[in-house]
Amino acid sequence: MRNVTIDNISDVVIAALGNDITPRHREILTGLIGHAHDFCKETKVTHSEWLQACEFLRRAGDISDENRNEFILISDILGIEVLVDMIDHPVTEGESCSTVLGPFYRENPPVLPNGASIIQKDFPDQETVLVQGRILGTDGQPLAGVTIDVWEDAPNGLYEQQDPDQPDYNLRGRFQTDENGHYAFIGIRPVPYPIPYDGAAGELLNYMGHHPWRPGHIHFMITKDGYRPLISQIFDSETKFLDNDSVFAVKEDLIGKLKKTSSGSKTDYVMDFDFVLKREAVAIAAE
Ligand SMILES: [Fe+2]
Repeated sequence: MRNVTIDNISDVVIAALGNDITPRHREILTGLIGHAHDFCKETKVTHSEWLQACEFLRRAGDISDENRNEFILISDILGIEVLVDMIDHPVTEGESCSTVLGPFYRENPPVLPNGASIIQKDFPDQETVLVQGRILGTDGQPLAGVTIDVWEDAPNGLYEQQDPDQPDYNLRGRFQTDENGHYAFIGIRPVPYPIPYDGAAGELLNYMGHHPWRPGHIHFMITKDGYRPLISQIFDSETKFLDNDSVFAVKEDLIGKLKKTSSGSKTDYVMDFDFVLKREAVAIAAE
């Protein structure tokens, strides 16, 4: 094609896709090319703006490394990660809602017994909370042997890998439900924190006129063979930013109530929260 025009450019590029690519690659690329071209036409993107966007992406790459993926942050503040999560994990059988993984998960956290504390370093202003509940199937039956990874930020608003003054794997732990499907751990009442805004994601937030803050939350990754893995968060019902989370991850069903404990208790608060897991379609089909 030598006579490319505004009207035929999308068809020309899509026609250039190789015959041997997979159907899924063709579907993704056809949609991407068509929508990206339409976006440029509808908004009349200037050459200068396009160059600015390319430079923005270069800066996002420059600041990214194995500990920081700026592109996840950018997709978060554009609402793309939470959208993809809702598309990929529709709630169909009364199971718990999932929400974004976020950029701070670390594999292989310390394996701890039920009821143990994930606090390795005390902060003067911290408030402690016993988080406990059950993991259930969609039939209401408790599930034993479920693996639960939890992680949260410290009272200074930083995850341990962001803060050289915190011990390795501080405020992270891996627990397993007992024969009654029960789990429990002691953590810190979660505090709001700003997502890192010293890089390209911060530039985009400024461009959007939006703040970087997230409501206080505790992350969960819940897995058991035969069940759909659940990546989710519990939000403190009294935290700031519940209604304007910078990454749009709040779901009504994921808001938990921290109850003040009586004096002499091991923690300042207790929060009861159950999760419901859905069977994997593959596991059901195999029965
Ligand atoms: Fe988080």
